Amino acid sequence: MSKLWGGRFAKNTDVMVEEFTSSISFDQRMYAEDIAGSIAHATMLAKCGIIANEEADTIIEGLKTILADIEAGNFSFEISLEDIHMNIEKRLTDRIGAVGGKLHTARSRNDQVALDTHMYLKHEIGAIGTLLQDLQQAIVEIAQKYQDVVMPGYTHLQRAQPILFSHHMMAYFSMLTRDFRRLKGVWEGTDILPLGAGALAGTTFPIDRHFVAQQLKFSQVYENSMDAVSDRDYILEFLSFASILMMHLSRISEEIILWSSTEFSFIELDDSHCTGSSIMPQKKNPDVAELVRGKTGRVFGHLMALLTTAKGLPLAYNKDLQEDKEGMFDTIDTLKFSLSVYASMLRAMKVNQKVMRAAVSNDFSNATDMADYLVKKGLPFRQAHEVVGKSVAYCLSANKWLMDLSLAEFKEFSPLFESDILEAIKVETCVDARNSYGGTSSTGVKQQFTVAQDILIKQ
Ligand code: ARG
Repeated sequence: MSKLWGGRFAKNTDVMVEEFTSSISFDQRMYAEDIAGSIAHATMLAKCGIIANEEADTIIEGLKTILADIEAGNFSFEISLEDIHMNIEKRLTDRIGAVGGKLHTARSRNDQVALDTHMYLKHEIGAIGTLLQDLQQAIVEIAQKYQDVVMPGYTHLQRAQPILFSHHMMAYFSMLTRDFRRLKGVWEGTDILPLGAGALAGTTFPIDRHFVAQQLKFSQVYENSMDAVSDRDYILEFLSFASILMMHLSRISEEIILWSSTEFSFIELDDSHCTGSSIMPQKKNPDVAELVRGKTGRVFGHLMALLTTAKGLPLAYNKDLQEDKEGMFDTIDTLKFSLSVYASMLRAMKVNQKVMRAAVSNDFSNATDMADYLVKKGLPFRQAHEVVGKSVAYCLSANKWLMDLSLAEFKEFSPLFESDILEAIKVETCVDARNSYGGTSSTGVKQQFTVAQDILIKQ
């Protein structure tokens, strides 16, 4: 296939070089954006008197037939034509004749590829936002379904204080709310039009970039042509957002995996969301959560890869930047799949209320409340801490829990204990007493539900 840039070359490109430098195997995903961008560009060229109206019409008609062919699967992408831009342009000229060659007036592949990735990402951000919001909704649903279930809260993975399962879940809701906020910022970064920057320095033709921006629904235009074609910070922002989101999903996955183990037995994942073992007949594995935790690694990798690719590049475009796309595409696919499968897994999951409750009964996680009881009777917190620490040590040696102590035993540790101490360190009391704003009490969690509904409507 003859090259669109073949004029100055005396030899054909080595086939290995063709294959190595081509991006068509992956950038063909952007065919719709490439064509929409070209249609807007041709419209602008005619409006500005750079090409004739009839020429623009022929070009646009030709582009539309190419779009239809690609969508019908009747288009063969050629490696020898390197990328999506030249595959489409060459086919256009084959189809409509020499006038097709006017489309690339006042344009370079450098601003064209930047346009395509801006548009592609912008579109996918909408889809990811919808899925992210649905996952938030699934979290609220599971939290509301098991609203009053008590479980141990952990620090250092040691039982710390009793909490509501719903409070634990809503912590993830809050994290995802910030992810959503970050995603909006990523969208803003994609909402800037690079087209019209030319190869790097602008163009000698009297183009109208703002007209193109309006047609393609960009609210801003890059102010500097060299910046427009050489930076990929909008993709890096996306990969950063994606990495943080995956880090959150990886943490909840870790908990899901732990909680569904026989040792914990806090939850049971639905059979439809687990897989079996080819050798051990009894196995039911939490593969979805494990894979989401595992895929976090590749998303972090894509962020590191592009940061590293971009860090040493002199302005403006360098072919290194072609490496921006595969990681971005893979991250989009990974996020969309992970978010959807996660929401359905959470919706189908069962919470083992009894086991969670038993885990807080046979435990010292009410020790802070016992100390708080003494503080409320006037003892400084540090002394109260000491008294309760001694009581715990005593219980450990006597093989008892704090709830098993008699009033006489309590009084051995401090005369401030009265008969209401048992009520004060009951698990439900401990949970509901944490009614400070943002705390685990049932009123606190209800408050979070109200805020969450509001967020889901407004965000
Ligand atoms: N396929 C190229 C990329 O993805 C398009 C831009 C090529 N520009 C160039 N001057 N070779 O970056």
